Amino acid sequence: MTRRPYIVGNWKMHGTRAMLSEARAIDRAAQRHMKVEVAIAPPYTLIHPIHREAEQIAVGAQDCHHEDSGAHTGDISAAMVADAGASFVILGHSERRTGHGESDALVRAKAGAAFAAGLKVILCCGENTATRESGKAVAFVRKQLKASLPPAEQLPAELAERLTVAYEPLWAIGTGTPATTDDIAEMHGQIRALLIDLLGAEQGADVRILYGGSVKPDNAAAIFAVPDVGGALVGGASLTADSFMGIALAASEPFEN
Ligand code: PGA
Repeated sequence: MTRRPYIVGNWKMHGTRAMLSEARAIDRAAQRHMKVEVAIAPPYTLIHPIHREAEQIAVGAQDCHHEDSGAHTGDISAAMVADAGASFVILGHSERRTGHGESDALVRAKAGAAFAAGLKVILCCGENTATRESGKAVAFVRKQLKASLPPAEQLPAELAERLTVAYEPLWAIGTGTPATTDDIAEMHGQIRALLIDLLGAEQGADVRILYGGSVKPDNAAAIFAVPDVGGALVGGASLTADSFMGIALAASEPFEN
């Protein structure tokens, strides 16, 4: 089954209520690009206000805690972000893994909690410069993804609807230079093969694999033409409706996922 391209904006730690007008503009534009699934993950503080107004786009969180509630000062659970209006959560982003010491086991626990709370999950993986240069990127990403995925009994039945994988090489994030289409093709092919191995032919073939790392309107079409690219996880270029929807426009032409 060919799924709609999925274009997700990761606003990271950017955005106060002044950004609501940008979210509105993204939502309006998304209504003109129904062939593309458009979503944004703003900071926690904007999830509810954006959800309340959005007619077309989905709103998600950038992280959640692995427990439902408890004595965890400053943390927010999957049930809480769902209550605020989030329908998905990004987990295992490299800025969480490196900046907050998140292990594969923790990411796996968070993903299990998010599924249990009814959320969709965008599970991130990707290697750093040293791993890429040592020629071990594929082995690293396969191991990381396998260890970050919850065990079968914690996976929801309608898995391809609920799980998305994002390949984001650390050396391409925020640099202005994405991975080459050859590197993306190789890694996405490997991730697809692993998903088929782990989840079975049907589900494994259906889960969308996003590319992330310096996706911009002017490089998006080439990236979307790569086999097994099902969309993009976009940081910097998702902060204005103009550039973000430029990427969505590039995805609105049919492309292989
Ligand atoms: P970037 O970030 O598009 O600014 O490179 C992508 C990400 O970290 O999700």
